[in-house]
Amino acid sequence: MTVIDRQYLLNSNQMAEFVARGFLRFDELVPDEINQAVMRDIDQGAIKGVPAGTPLSQCYQGTAIRRMLDLPQIQGLIHSLVGEDPLFDHDAIHVREPNEGKAQGLHADSIIDTRAHFDIQIMYFPHDVPLEMGGTLLLPGSHFRRVNEMDVAAYQNMRGQIPMVCKAGAILVLHHGIWHCGRQNKTDRRRYMFKLRLNPAVRQLRLWNTDDLDEAYRAAKEIHTENYTRGDDIQSILSRREPWFEAASGRLEIVNRIKLWRFLTGDERFDVHYWMSRLENMPA
Ligand SMILES: [Fe+2]
Repeated sequence: MTVIDRQYLLNSNQMAEFVARGFLRFDELVPDEINQAVMRDIDQGAIKGVPAGTPLSQCYQGTAIRRMLDLPQIQGLIHSLVGEDPLFDHDAIHVREPNEGKAQGLHADSIIDTRAHFDIQIMYFPHDVPLEMGGTLLLPGSHFRRVNEMDVAAYQNMRGQIPMVCKAGAILVLHHGIWHCGRQNKTDRRRYMFKLRLNPAVRQLRLWNTDDLDEAYRAAKEIHTENYTRGDDIQSILSRREPWFEAASGRLEIVNRIKLWRFLTGDERFDVHYWMSRLENMPA
């Protein structure tokens, strides 16, 4: 059993950010020595997947990927989102050749999957990715729009999309429902990205550092009746709009976020403003 240092667990605001946008981003997290070793391992075909359902603790022994996974920050974010020793689902080594003539269509890495339980996908970028190199593109907040794989591939340039432009060692951690694609590599260099999907092996309930949760709720109550989008608190994070949202308010997405926050906290009365309370008002 790995002992997780609590200082590396996510805090409640980070978890709310993940619930709201479907991803978290950590720049320059992995040291360059590991980045270089991972790219060597990729070139030598040394990274071997295992059967789906294998506990992560048993994967990648003796490789640079294992050293990346064992970084305390990575252990902390994995534990916060999918708990101790999640299951290996699959990995993918995405190598894009120089001046590749095409991009990937927008998609989700799943069939329609309506569970509240979620898998995470870790995307690891071991070298600098400038805009012209492509990299992953993602649509923040799309994870509640559960689609079937490439059904959304006809959509291009959605408002608010984020092209991953980063320094070496960046990590993206994604909800399995998020819409994304690999962009075209227009440089004369190879592009590498390592993706790893993990399934939770425990109920996803308050797995992060919840020490700040009571304080977050107190702050939320104080602004509950005022302008609920102004602060840096749970309610504000969960009510922040993405540019592609329906024009009036994006209420549907906010309701979806409330449902996931309730699932993760076990707090069935949690609300943002009055959106869920109104829907649940059914006097007998
Ligand atoms: Fe994908």
